[in-house]
Amino acid sequence: MLDIIHTKLNLGLEKPVKLLHVTDVHICEASPLDEPWQQELMKERIGVFEREGNFPEKTPEEFFKESIALAKELGATLVVTGDVYDIHTKGNLKKFKDLIKHEDMMFSPGGHEYQYQIVRTLEEPDGYGAKMEAQLKEELPEFDLDFEVRQLGGVNVITANNALDYYPAYTVNRFEETLENGLPTIVFSHDPLDDKLLNKTEAYHENVKITKEEYEVSHRMLTALKTNPQVVTTFTGHNHVTREYEIEGKTHYLTGGLFKGVCRLIEIV
Ligand SMILES: [Fe+2]
Ligand SMILES: [Fe+2]
Repeated sequence: MLDIIHTKLNLGLEKPVKLLHVTDVHICEASPLDEPWQQELMKERIGVFEREGNFPEKTPEEFFKESIALAKELGATLVVTGDVYDIHTKGNLKKFKDLIKHEDMMFSPGGHEYQYQIVRTLEEPDGYGAKMEAQLKEELPEFDLDFEVRQLGGVNVITANNALDYYPAYTVNRFEETLENGLPTIVFSHDPLDDKLLNKTEAYHENVKITKEEYEVSHRMLTALKTNPQVVTTFTGHNHVTREYEIEGKTHYLTGGLFKGVCRLIEIV
């Protein structure tokens, strides 16, 4: 059984809108085609998430399937904010593609979508970060990994990629263009707005080479999310715990990991 957290946003809509937010599934699958050390690692990591989730009754994959079914049952749009799998193995990618086949959802990646091992591969000095970004775009053509917007009941519902601890310029441009329609806006991303790395203003990953100018663009978006009154709130994951936090008088929401069976039903009325 999923543990459903209920959040209601009052925007004075004519017709209510429902969203089901899930994040941090951490499916740990490896295929015989994966490196032997990755196959071993995935067996170990299953145990890590079982313990962190206090031995939930279902596997991450089962919870993911259950949340897809629940969204349909409730007539809610499913929004997934990353770390669907634990590391980028062939087994995990295939599992993810099988699970999303014929299903409708919005998706923004987390850091783990870009990692092939547990320590941050973004720190590896071999161009891995950029290579993985390009690879993932090819492997998951079902989604625009950097930005998607749906106008639902007079609300901009956005997924914006900040998985590598900054908002890419493309994401920021699309976000700013979207705001021009004047509609109230809700943004889903992986990293919470109070994340330390997201708030840094200088290079911090060996392998994510972005310029000072690009940092400025990323921070323009971060500031808008915190202070622009058109942005109602944000929903994120990453920390695996459910919490609410306030910035500049605005409440933001973090949803716990789906591997624990947690999801959030958002009703906008
Ligand atoms: Fe995670
Ligand atoms: Fe994360």
